Amino acid sequence: MRKGSLKIAVIGGGSSYTPELIEGFIKRFHELPVSDLYLVDIEAGKQKLEIVGALAKRMIEKANVPINLHLTLNRREAIENADFVTTQMRVGLLDARARDERIPLRYQCIGQETTGAGGFAKALRTIPVILDICKDIEELAPNAYMINFTNPAGIVTEAVIKHSQVKTIGLCNLPIGTKMQMASLMDTEVSKVEIEMVGINHLNWTTQIYVDGKNVKDEILQKVSETKGITVKNIPDFGWNLDFLTSLGALPCSYHRYYYMKEKMLEEQLESLKAKGTRAEAVKKVEEELFELYQNEQLAEKPAQLEKRGGAYYSEAAVNLMASIYNDRKDIQTVNVKNNGVITCLPDDVSIEVNCIIDSNGAHPVAIQTPLPPQIRGLLQVVKAYEELTVTAAAKGDYHAALQALSIHPLVGSANMAKKLLDDILEENREYLPQFSAVLGEI
Ligand code: G6P
Repeated sequence: MRKGSLKIAVIGGGSSYTPELIEGFIKRFHELPVSDLYLVDIEAGKQKLEIVGALAKRMIEKANVPINLHLTLNRREAIENADFVTTQMRVGLLDARARDERIPLRYQCIGQETTGAGGFAKALRTIPVILDICKDIEELAPNAYMINFTNPAGIVTEAVIKHSQVKTIGLCNLPIGTKMQMASLMDTEVSKVEIEMVGINHLNWTTQIYVDGKNVKDEILQKVSETKGITVKNIPDFGWNLDFLTSLGALPCSYHRYYYMKEKMLEEQLESLKAKGTRAEAVKKVEEELFELYQNEQLAEKPAQLEKRGGAYYSEAAVNLMASIYNDRKDIQTVNVKNNGVITCLPDDVSIEVNCIIDSNGAHPVAIQTPLPPQIRGLLQVVKAYEELTVTAAAKGDYHAALQALSIHPLVGSANMAKKLLDDILEENREYLPQFSAVLGEI
């Protein structure tokens, strides 16, 4: 990695989240000296790229940091010789997300952006595009790290691990967010909190929590059961029962509510659908508001309204990760990497989300302290098996793998339901699923 001058390519640069990332690059310029920052998008995202790019330029000028900002629709130009490629795109934009959330609800199944049948549909659309980007990286920037933030982040990262040579690390804001919540519950600073997280993206369990070296897990579980607000913006704040938490022996993540509180979550989704639509529609409104603000030429900072999105602290996580790689820091961060035997009950070549040591050679998983009890192992194995099948389905256009993926998913529940969901998903995503073109001819 070149010292003193870094090139970064942000794929999906026109995203409303970009000011968050720019803020991170500005704040950490002293430890991550980015000289060239390429925001790249597709033709359909051109207008958003121009608006968000102009704001990014104002932010950089105001902060007076020597980052050269480039806006482009030429992905290859952005990737060439990059040190880091970050991906934050949404294939099919928010309309596709709305369909992902609505199709399952039609059949009384949870409809969610990353979890269950919704996340499955998003994976089918996203994986071919990500693998195409990987081909460019292999050719034009073979030493680059791809920091993947694109959802479903764990499944997308696994596709890259299995189907390309690109050095990749999958990233989510939940681990850093959880640490911050723990610090606030214990009324202490984040730097004093250490956690062990084990699992896969959006299905990880915090199995150990220490403050200043003291094990405070039981105290935290008690506090969590009594406190409101231990969730992310996009997931309802339904509280956890103490008996449940104690018997689980770990802190579940926000997304576990879709499994452990399935009926209540479904009921909430169906009611919201009638009253105001799905999360995608809420996000559309926030985005309209944000892009209106971004066009104000007086604005030269990230607006507070961005906090209405679920991806809080995303830049913190991304920039922290890149800075640790660049500076060979050897600190611990929770990211998505290849299992390689760390979680012994899962195959070696799948992606997992665990604590890793971050150095100039990437992310190296730390051995897990806590043996996984059956209550964690069972759910983890079944959802991981679903993810493996989804990667095969998406990468190869394999209808049978797709059918089995949905059939074993705990939020789908039967082969009959899986078939109905799958056929609707394929039909309604036709234009984004070239890998299924043979199958789609028959549907
Ligand atoms: C959470 C997740 C992210 C996800 C976001 C959705 O924070 O960790 O992976 O992208 O929520 O937020 P949104 O505002 O788009 O519903």
